[in-house]
Amino acid sequence: MQKIVINGGQPLRGVIPVSGSKNAALPIMAASILTNEKLELSNVPDLVDVKTMSLVLSSLGVNVAKSENNKNSITLQYSDTEKTIAEYDLVRKMRASILVLGPLLARKREASVSLPGGCAIGARPIDIHIDALTKLGATFELEKGYIQCSAPKGLTGNKIELPKVSVGATENIIMAASLASGETEISNIALEPEVIDLINCLNTMGAKIELGDNRSVMIQGVKTLNGSIYSIIPDRIEAVTYIIAGALAGDGLKIENLNIEHISNVLETLKTLPVDIIFDENSVTVNKSNISEGIEIQTKEYPGFPTDVQAQMMVLMSMAKTKSVIDENIFENRFMHVPELNRMGANIEINGKRAIINPCSGFRGAPVMATDLRASVSLILAGLAAEGETTLNRIYHLDRGYEQIEVKLEACGAEIKRV
Ligand code: EPZ
Repeated sequence: MQKIVINGGQPLRGVIPVSGSKNAALPIMAASILTNEKLELSNVPDLVDVKTMSLVLSSLGVNVAKSENNKNSITLQYSDTEKTIAEYDLVRKMRASILVLGPLLARKREASVSLPGGCAIGARPIDIHIDALTKLGATFELEKGYIQCSAPKGLTGNKIELPKVSVGATENIIMAASLASGETEISNIALEPEVIDLINCLNTMGAKIELGDNRSVMIQGVKTLNGSIYSIIPDRIEAVTYIIAGALAGDGLKIENLNIEHISNVLETLKTLPVDIIFDENSVTVNKSNISEGIEIQTKEYPGFPTDVQAQMMVLMSMAKTKSVIDENIFENRFMHVPELNRMGANIEINGKRAIINPCSGFRGAPVMATDLRASVSLILAGLAAEGETTLNRIYHLDRGYEQIEVKLEACGAEIKRV
């Protein structure tokens, strides 16, 4: 089992290039099922989750080819086979596999996808996906842990009000509706940049999708969609992760290839701390910062404070002189990094969905265990700021969402090794 070992306290200086967005690449890859033509994607991050999605799509008849001379470019082409079953042993590895449901229904009028099952951060049901697809004319049954769905007469446009903002449900419905007959109007959609990237990509494929005001979208169904050549947006969560690394240990750490607008809400919060950050066109330079006052953070749907940087923020707020409060409003069990951070010297209390981050006298290296993707990266951040050696176990969680993290950090002076 691989580990990552960090000898903390080294100043981070140099350039970190942000990779393409995992959470934009996954739905856009699933959209390859919506056409028989080639979907050529660039700036795709080279991650375990991308490999898993490639396997799921290949099992459904999509030919996925990575370009020889660029690991971040892949071409996908669906061959419209009879395969419509997304198997449990693949789906259980990655919840985002559920994103093949909408496209399969739209193209094959039937699909059988294993229930993704919960994951470390919560039950993560798919009721919103199912209710909304039902409104487009699909019927569902649960059989042996698989969602069997069919729409023998094809999908028909409808008005859909999503009961709760859900990134995955928004993406599944929009992909299904893009090939439904007639018009679909959806309200209360998620507006994450990754959702917008999917919409933009679908429109380059010939879809007719138009964002309305306050979380609404109009989709005019079309008969067929074409291939496209599309570049994935930068990963905003990876970008913020490295900005926080800079605030903890930076000495001129430059993070580039990022989209400032996608993280403007987080940057506003960081500036109040104050994090010493200098802005450029599509890069920022960050220095180790003296965090004076603690703050209160509520995780929210975009454009609110992202739940995916909650764990990383706890590490930074542990360095503040007064206490902070973070309420995790999106997932019911997303504090598993806290006991591990406390073993490294943090002083964080949990009370239901509220985490209270008390001041501490800095981090000390320790052997720690990753539990989920963002929890594992918060332990890396603490290890970079800690005195002494940190060993992180179960780093397969990390490889799901961070491309070559130890390579990027080592290039900036961190003493970090994968063993
Ligand atoms: C996406 O997950 C992201 N994953 C998550 O990132 C991210 O944390 C999450 O959105 C919130 O921003 C991808 O894009 C691949 P949701 P998703 O549906 O779509 C509940 C990471 O670290 N819900 O917006 O699964 C759900 O349980 C990952 O990169 C229902 O109740 O999130 C959660 O409490 C982690 N019923 C809330 O809604 C449903 O049918 C938001 O979930 C669907 C969701």
